[in-house]
Amino acid sequence: MRVTNDPLEAALALAECHLAAVPTETVYGLGARADDAHAIAQIYVAKGRPANHPLIAHLPNIEALDAWGKDIPDFARALAEAFWPGPLTLVIKRTDRAGDFLTGAQDSVAVRVSAHPLMQTVQQELVRITGDASIAIAAPSANRFGQVSPTSADHVKQELGMFLSANDVILDGGDCEIGLESTIIDCTGTQPQLLRPGAITIEQVEQTTGMTCTHDSQVRASGTLDSHYSPRAEVRLVTQQELEAGDYTNSAARIGLLASADITTPIGLVRLAEPTSTDEYARILYWALREADALELRNVLAVSPESHGLGTAILDRLSRAAHPK
Ligand code: TXA
Ligand code: MG
Repeated sequence: MRVTNDPLEAALALAECHLAAVPTETVYGLGARADDAHAIAQIYVAKGRPANHPLIAHLPNIEALDAWGKDIPDFARALAEAFWPGPLTLVIKRTDRAGDFLTGAQDSVAVRVSAHPLMQTVQQELVRITGDASIAIAAPSANRFGQVSPTSADHVKQELGMFLSANDVILDGGDCEIGLESTIIDCTGTQPQLLRPGAITIEQVEQTTGMTCTHDSQVRASGTLDSHYSPRAEVRLVTQQELEAGDYTNSAARIGLLASADITTPIGLVRLAEPTSTDEYARILYWALREADALELRNVLAVSPESHGLGTAILDRLSRAAHPK
């Protein structure tokens, strides 16, 4: 495995059916050619992920949508037009191009177009090298199954380095701008359904489509398993009042604290981060959870921002991190 800044190197590795960990605006993905069963099998090995879990196909552009999806409803096209490239994944009915090895044998496929400039270059280069205008990159988040998603190339290397092969590549595109995985909207029904909250909010989806966006879908999504996005440290969600009522001065174990900057650190707690906005909270969340493990903290107390806008996605990830394993 080598770490590089050169998107062409990543595209060449992908073209030759090796893996390339790639930066996106949300989190790093572990990419493989979406049309190659063997390359995709390597993703599951490196992640330690059950092989029936479907992957997101990252498309080079919106024009590639019809190569991978069929019977696409107007509301899904409206969402793609409005938010691509960007942190939005659409689940649509699949064409034959989306193999069982990509979709976990479901009759739908998850697609998105990333806005990260390096990722866009990788996709364009892969189109050029293969001569295939709609070639996609299958990429789940580049972490071991159930763990916290990586938001920097270093995190990918620490977590997956030992599971990658000599010809695999990690493309370093710096820290991810958003820091939380994309919003996933199921578009296989008559109206949009939220499968995973992210930076594109329900309100934005409803405004764009003029429809109600429900969030009670039965569709499988591994990110919706109760315990997920989970560090080794035990995370506990608390309100500001609960935090302030606690006495941490005699605690035997060191306890971390994650809360916005307006909340002061009670004596005895190890402050992990003090984000000054919801955007910053999202951006540093996974870094802070990894930091808790690096500091060998046994517990982390987290005060979530309010549950609207991006705050909904932060609360969702914190709740999963806090769920008993
Ligand atoms: O921001 C993101 O979405 C990142 C970056 C790398 O693009 N990717 C990501 O992938 O978070 P992953 O595999 O960690 O999460 C994708 C989620 C999984 O929970 C998967 O089950 C769900 O999408 N998914 C994929 N295909 C699906 C399908 N056909 N139907 C329902 N859910 C699907
Ligand atoms: Mg993931």
